[in-house]
Amino acid sequence: TSVSRGIAAGIRHYCKNTPTKLRVSQALSGAELGSNIKVQGWVRSVRAQKANVFLHVNDGSSLQSLQVVASSELSDPLLTFGSAVEVTGILKKSPHQKQPVELDAKQINVVGECNPVDFPFKIKERHGLEYIRQFPHLRCRTNAFSSLLRIRSEATAAIHSYFKDNGFVEINTPIITSNDCEGAGELFQVEPSGPDYADGENFFSVPAYLTVSGQLHLEVVSGAFSKVYTFGPTFRAENSQSRRHLAEFYMVEAEISFTQSLEDLTKVMEDMFRFATEHVLAHCVEDVDLFHKHVTPGHRDTVDAMIKNSFPVITYREAIDILRRSSERFAFPTDWGCDLKTEHEKYLVKHCGNIPVFVTDYPYDLKPFYARDNQDHPERTAAAVDLLVPGVGELCGGSLREERLNLLSARLEEYLDLRRFGSVPHGGFGLGFERYLQCILGVDNIKDVVPFPRFSHSCLL
Ligand code: 4AD
Repeated sequence: TSVSRGIAAGIRHYCKNTPTKLRVSQALSGAELGSNIKVQGWVRSVRAQKANVFLHVNDGSSLQSLQVVASSELSDPLLTFGSAVEVTGILKKSPHQKQPVELDAKQINVVGECNPVDFPFKIKERHGLEYIRQFPHLRCRTNAFSSLLRIRSEATAAIHSYFKDNGFVEINTPIITSNDCEGAGELFQVEPSGPDYADGENFFSVPAYLTVSGQLHLEVVSGAFSKVYTFGPTFRAENSQSRRHLAEFYMVEAEISFTQSLEDLTKVMEDMFRFATEHVLAHCVEDVDLFHKHVTPGHRDTVDAMIKNSFPVITYREAIDILRRSSERFAFPTDWGCDLKTEHEKYLVKHCGNIPVFVTDYPYDLKPFYARDNQDHPERTAAAVDLLVPGVGELCGGSLREERLNLLSARLEEYLDLRRFGSVPHGGFGLGFERYLQCILGVDNIKDVVPFPRFSHSCLL
């Protein structure tokens, strides 16, 4: 027993001297009060007083930083704003109201130096999104962008949970494909580089592209699973510098079999939107507050109205009537058959009370080949639906799919085979994930809601 006591004591002794490595968020929760701990992160502020130095250390685990108090002997000229540090000490209850705990430092190690004069962000300054966008390799060190990335991560998780909880199977649809699902010709072609492939021969037996939508592959699998979804990178060679287009973005797509009407789709879009938004508001309280208080003040009321009210549904015909009755001067025409432009979409959202609104039954010719023909002569509309949201305009696009072989026969050959073997009525939609984040946070420019934006003429990091 004395041996085993010795071993136990030895272990205890070993544990006592080895600091427990904690994330800043764990330290702030106060769970390890009184323990010897180690945190690693980046200095967000330094303040030297006569006897003590005060630091704030942030490691991206939360918006809040951990206050470190050290005697001035531990001070180091390299301990500057932006430097990377490792701090060991005892986690204590803070005597100040501002923070629950503080780290009484016994040792501070500067792991990576940072010259604060050259560092583009300045201590205590609130830099605008446009300014920090110039530094894609550093902007994750700012409060606003680190909050954004945590929200993005939480929203991603929420969307996956929504689908899991509702019986959808996730399908990883291919990124390299030979189809142009949308038929808009906005494709990036994929070819191998290097001398072995210089003769212009295709690597695959057909020309290959980066996917513009996983829809056609989802349609295949929905023919066996009924409810499927995908959430992945999507590419469009749109030569657009707009605040809502990227060349590489994330799209959430769902495909549902045995649909009876567009309502089968709008219900999923609306439920998913509400579930994800409520989840983000509940799980990212500080991060969302930072946006709604300092970056996009006043936007919280808009978000609350979006989740409180059910989304109205209007037809394209009604939308056109609303636009034509308005006294607003639009730059683009508002006749039956015209595409709805951003200015129209924003007006319709305002008109419906500044909450998301579904527009259904677009002219057949405005929608891609797969949209189901309503056969409502003479207008001829398609069973397609867009979800328009405040600040952004179109967030989702979807439709019932044309499952009737005879009506599709003039169209795509491969698509037809899907209709020959157990074809059922089905439909689906796609939601632009960056636009969703713009919508709930009130962010004007899509480049501010993606870690490393890709758009035409952008530099690639
Ligand atoms: O309306 P879209 O083009 O629909 C489709 O691709 C369908 N195949 C989806 C489906 O039914 N499975 O795109 C869907 C959404 C748009 O509403 C928009 O929010 C977003 O994707 N989107 C973009 N987001 C950022 N940058 C771009 N260039 C985008 N193009 C579309």
